[in-house]
Amino acid sequence: MLFKNLFRKKSATAAIGDGEDIHGHGLHKVLTVRDLTFFGIAAIIGGGTFSAIGNACFHGGPAVILLYIICAVACGFTAMCYAEFASRVPVSGSAYTYAYVSFGELFAWIIGWALLMEYSIGNIYIAFSWSGYFTNLLELGGLHLPQWLTINYSEAHTAFLGNVQGEGFSAWTNSPIIGGLHIIFDLPAVIINALITVLVYVGTKESRNFSNIMVVIKLLIIALVVLVGVFYVDINNWHPFMPHGFGGVMGAVSGVFFAYIGFDAVSTLAEESKNPQRDLPRGMIYSLIICTIVFIVLCLILTGMASYQDLGVSDPLAVIFKLKGVKWMLFIVSIGAVVAMTSVLLVFQMGQPRIWMSMSRDGLLPKRFASIHPKYKTPGFSTIITGLVVGIPIFFTNENFVLDFTSIGTLFAFVLVCGGVLMLPRREAKVAGEEKRFRLPYINGKFIMPILFTATVVSVQLGLPDFFRGLIHITSENASSTIPMLIFFFVYGVVSILSIFKNFSLIPVLGLLSCCYLLTGMTLNNWAWFSSWLAIGLIVYFSYGYRKSKLAKK
Ligand code: ALA
Repeated sequence: MLFKNLFRKKSATAAIGDGEDIHGHGLHKVLTVRDLTFFGIAAIIGGGTFSAIGNACFHGGPAVILLYIICAVACGFTAMCYAEFASRVPVSGSAYTYAYVSFGELFAWIIGWALLMEYSIGNIYIAFSWSGYFTNLLELGGLHLPQWLTINYSEAHTAFLGNVQGEGFSAWTNSPIIGGLHIIFDLPAVIINALITVLVYVGTKESRNFSNIMVVIKLLIIALVVLVGVFYVDINNWHPFMPHGFGGVMGAVSGVFFAYIGFDAVSTLAEESKNPQRDLPRGMIYSLIICTIVFIVLCLILTGMASYQDLGVSDPLAVIFKLKGVKWMLFIVSIGAVVAMTSVLLVFQMGQPRIWMSMSRDGLLPKRFASIHPKYKTPGFSTIITGLVVGIPIFFTNENFVLDFTSIGTLFAFVLVCGGVLMLPRREAKVAGEEKRFRLPYINGKFIMPILFTATVVSVQLGLPDFFRGLIHITSENASSTIPMLIFFFVYGVVSILSIFKNFSLIPVLGLLSCCYLLTGMTLNNWAWFSSWLAIGLIVYFSYGYRKSKLAKK
């Protein structure tokens, strides 16, 4: 009985019905395909584009563009799976709702819990990065904030304990002390989170207008970077193309993948879209295509203007212009970074309450999480809780920790979305009125998958004769990289065999496998933290959602 209850599924019709229940006194339906594409771009182009791209180029050299293409393909497959779900179940909740329909309640809860990392924990990272660029802007304007107001407590404490001279150490030693406690926190990060929370609380339409303006500004600034930068490109910098081999390119996976996170946030806006079944898929795919082009062009400019060795910094776009002595561009780039990150913060801060709203409607969270503000028509209570979930950890956590969490949680969600599409019943021929809806093209993986798997194994064996031998001989030194890779090949093999018997659709299979492959880049330490997080989620589920679920009352 327990087992059966854990996998109780919500029907797609019921999920759509929930969205319609609130029609009339629910969310404003104002978003068009252009708005959704803009939302996608607003969510994607942020810290990954202005900051992580530098380290990616440093590790992979100019060849890192290959990794941007690989990640785009993985995200593209996933976007198509999101689109298929969004077209069948056009309600808020994103991967959470999709998992509820395809895998059942337990998985839905797990995915909702994991998405908290993408949306809220991801925003903690962006708030820290935002603060860094904002502080630079203040400095350019001659304003100087004390260091103990621009750094997080954890970083300053670690620097002090390790006697590492620099910003953290001096923030610790110069900070005021109240009751024995050093007062150190990232003030701009706290303020931007509070402002974004208020904006999202006040309304979708206002947020949308603000978001669209920011997207236009950041695309214009990126265009300016390219137009000015192209005159400083020296094609000799593109040699060697792959200085650290393909291993170096793949070493940049986390940063590159982080840059793509966000296209899926579009799917949380289903209930605010005028025509979600037609527009959500388009919004996701258009934004993904535009951002991939932006990333590749930026990589070429960066690696063309400077040696890849100069790019291992957190503000690479500023550094390339500093190296060339183009001082006025420093200011423009800093503005661009601040604007870009503000829009990412905004989109994610809008996404989280909508996921909670869906979970609450299903009875998995208290009713208040679904309450809609009578005047502003936004999920007010959930919005405030999101603000607190992002705002409070800003006082005690640090950026590197939250970055890994964000990536692993997001990839995990993507794997479940692609897997979920495989569980959906296949759609029959189009019926009248369906012409404009997105349909995932069905390509039978029956023959292609086993051939692909065999070809992969044979080419890896021929190209890297020690690879599989290394996987079998696990030692404490190599465990971190071999165990995930071993699991990946196991999943790859099993899915290929299942494709023969179940005629799996090729696109979701490739989406699932490409995301699993990217997960192999996570360390065992990341997995340990992630597992603990999931364990806490299960405790919460069994003590509340399992009993209160709407499906439990049927
Ligand atoms: N893709 C988003 C960014 O780069 C998360 O900021």
